[in-house]
Parts: sequence; C-alpha cells; structure tokens
Amino acid sequence: MPEIMKGLKDVYFDNTEASFIDGDVGKLLYRGYSIHDLAEKSTFEEVVYLLLYGELPSQSELTDFDAKLRANRRIPDQVIEVLNLVQNSHPMDALRTGISALSAFDEDVTDNSPEATIRKGIRLTAMGPTLVAAHHRLRQGLEPVAPNPDLNHAGNFLYMLFDEMPDEETVKLLDVDFILHAEHGANASAFGARVAASTLSDLHSAVTTGVGVLKGPWHGGAAEEVMRMALDIGQPENAEEYCRNILDNGGRIMGFGHRVYKAEDPRARHLRERSKALGEKMGQPKWFEILTYLEENVMSKYRDRGIFVNVDFFAGSIYYLLGIPDDLFISIFALGRIPGWTLQCLEQFDDNILIRPLLEYTGGMDLEYTPIESR
Ligand code: CMC
Repeated sequence: MPEIMKGLKDVYFDNTEASFIDGDVGKLLYRGYSIHDLAEKSTFEEVVYLLLYGELPSQSELTDFDAKLRANRRIPDQVIEVLNLVQNSHPMDALRTGISALSAFDEDVTDNSPEATIRKGIRLTAMGPTLVAAHHRLRQGLEPVAPNPDLNHAGNFLYMLFDEMPDEETVKLLDVDFILHAEHGANASAFGARVAASTLSDLHSAVTTGVGVLKGPWHGGAAEEVMRMALDIGQPENAEEYCRNILDNGGRIMGFGHRVYKAEDPRARHLRERSKALGEKMGQPKWFEILTYLEENVMSKYRDRGIFVNVDFFAGSIYYLLGIPDDLFISIFALGRIPGWTLQCLEQFDDNILIRPLLEYTGGMDLEYTPIESR
C-alpha cells in the first residue's frame, strides 16, 4: 500500500529561494531578509523588487522600478467593460476574471522567459489594484477612478477605491499589510500557481489560479470571517460562549492555526500593534479588545496544540476600521501576493517538472457495463 500524504502535509516538492519559514519558532524570511525588518523598514515597492530580482535595490534601481509600476497601472477600457459585466460578482471573482481578461491585451502572454515573466508580474502587480478598485466603483454605480501616478502603490489603491486622497498613516498601514502578504512559500495558492506553471501554461493562468485558490476561508478568506465573528460577538464577554458553540460543534475559529506555524505567525505581530493603535485612534478600541480576549482567554488553551493567531486574525479589524467593505478583504491579500505568485512561477519555469502526484484508487474494479436502456 502506498503511503498517502494527505493534503501533502510536510511534503517538500521542490527547492526555493523565495522565502524561508521555520514554523516551530515563527520565523519568516523573504529572500533571506527578516519579515520584521521588511515590515518595519521597507516599502512594498522595495519588497516586490527584492522578490522579483533577488536583491534589495539601490536607490536608483528602486526609483526606476517604482516608475515602471506607476506607469503600468492603467487597464484597457475593454477590461473595465468586462468588470462592469461581472459587477455583481464577489470582488475575488471579479479580480480572477479581470486578470484573465488582461491576458488578451498582454503582448508577452505566451512568453514564459524570465524577462517576460517579470515584465508580466510587474504589470499584474501594478494593474491588480486598478481592477479591484474599478470593480468596487462599478458595483456601486460609480465611475472608476483613474490611477494617480503621484501616489505610491498603497496610496493609489486607496485613492482609486474611495476617490479621495488618503492620509499618510493609512497609506503606511496598507503598505505594511501588502508587505506581510507578499510571499509565503508553498502555500495553497502558490502551489496552485506552480501547478499551472508546471504545465508550461502562462503567468496570467497561474495568477488566475492563485486568486481562485486564495479565495477559500481556510486560506485568504479568513480575515473577512474574523471580522464577521468580532461583529457577531459584539462585546468581549460574549466571546467565550460564542466560540464554545463553534468549537463544540467541530467548527474552527478563523484567524487561528496554520499548516506550517506551530508558534505565532510572525506576520501577526505587526498587524496586532497596528490594529490596537488604529482602534484607539478611531475611538473604536472594542474590536481589538474582542480579538485579544479571544486570543488570551478563549484560544490560549489551544496553544499547546500549536494553534496560535495567524496573519489574518488582526487584518480584518484594520480593514474594517479603514472603511473597507468586508468582501474586499481577500482581494487585498491577493494584491499583496501577486509578486509572490510571480516569483514562484519564475522558479517553476526555471527548473520545470510537471507537477502531477498520484491518487490511490479506492473505487470499484472491472465493473460490468450495463447499456442505458437496461439500467
Ligand atoms: N480552530 C479550531 N481548531 C483548529 C483550528 C482553528 N482555527 N485550526 C486547526 N484546528 C484543529 C483542527 O480541528 C484539528 O483538530 P483535530 O486534530 O482534533 O482534528 C487540528 O487543529 C489540526 O488541524 P488541521 O486541519 O490538521 O491542520 P492544518 O494544518 O491542515 O490547518 C488551517 C491549517 C489554516 C486550515 C487551519 O488551522 C484552519 O482551518 N484555520 C482557520 C482558517 C484560517 O484562519 N486560515 C488562514 C490561514 S493563514 C493565511 C494563509 O496563509 O492562508
């Protein structure tokens, strides 16, 4: 009997230089650099450069790279029309459709060379926020807002979403959030993207796959669920009973647990601090109080089983306080992750092998075929 590695748990399927994760101690490095240094000292643009080219940029390299990102934000009118057609879709479905539609206008679409894959990765990173913001405007019956080349990546996204200039603090908050979501090893969506790349399909197909895989509540969808849970709980003192009902019925508390981290997800630290500060600043400390009550008093019992908060736990409260509708939370994760998916595809194309595992067959054998008229 073959040994079945269900969920491919603990299976290494290739090498990577993208990120290092030590789940036992909660350590994460992008291209060798600590997530803490990057979150505290870097910018999303710099991190995208690091991921795609493998090194931190010099000032002039960063300036050129940032200019490229800014110059590639516009999406074709035909893609706006497509977004208009799917305006009733969930924002992640619209993003998936939008990325797929962009392939029709990308001159490099079938070129899987590293140069073309990087060019496409830059374009998709730059255009992703335009897709999400345009769809959000269209579904409210509003005109999409054109990208503003004077704003950085995070600032321009907020500007296109709300049609008003964002303040510096909010921009930095989103910039850090994008950094924290940019890359994460063989997570389910990156694996999905790699499977697509391994057939020598193309980056648009791979990123479309990534978006589809990320959408689920066990992956990117948890932030949305966490905030819904906090709203349902309403007050810290209700948290215990609320969670007990879920756990006693075999359910899971969203924002806790991780396939790789058996200690606290190192990304959570940066969002915890920011969620607290933002809640106090906005005069709404309640959400952070509910979340920390959950963490400290309800889920603390699960720590010895390796269940700690993950990156999504505090993210939802931040987006909520920024006035971002809850069904956009996963899209923000996806926008941050486009560079990571691109890098995973670069690595896959570089030393490709078709990803094609086996399934142990447990169904019937050699059954006698009965013609339809005799069934
Ligand atoms: N609440 C309650 N119990 C949990 C949770 C949770 N959030 N997570 C895991 N468990 C339990 C699970 O029920 C199982 O118990 P038992 O052994 O008694 O059956 C045990 O822990 C091991 O769970 P598992 O499903 O084998 O572990 P996994 O590594 O496959 O799960 C996970 C990883 C993320 C799917 C899971 O922790 C989960 O469902 N968490 C909630 C969803 C969530 O927050 N997802 C965001 C992940 S971070 C963002 C990202 O990178 O995707």
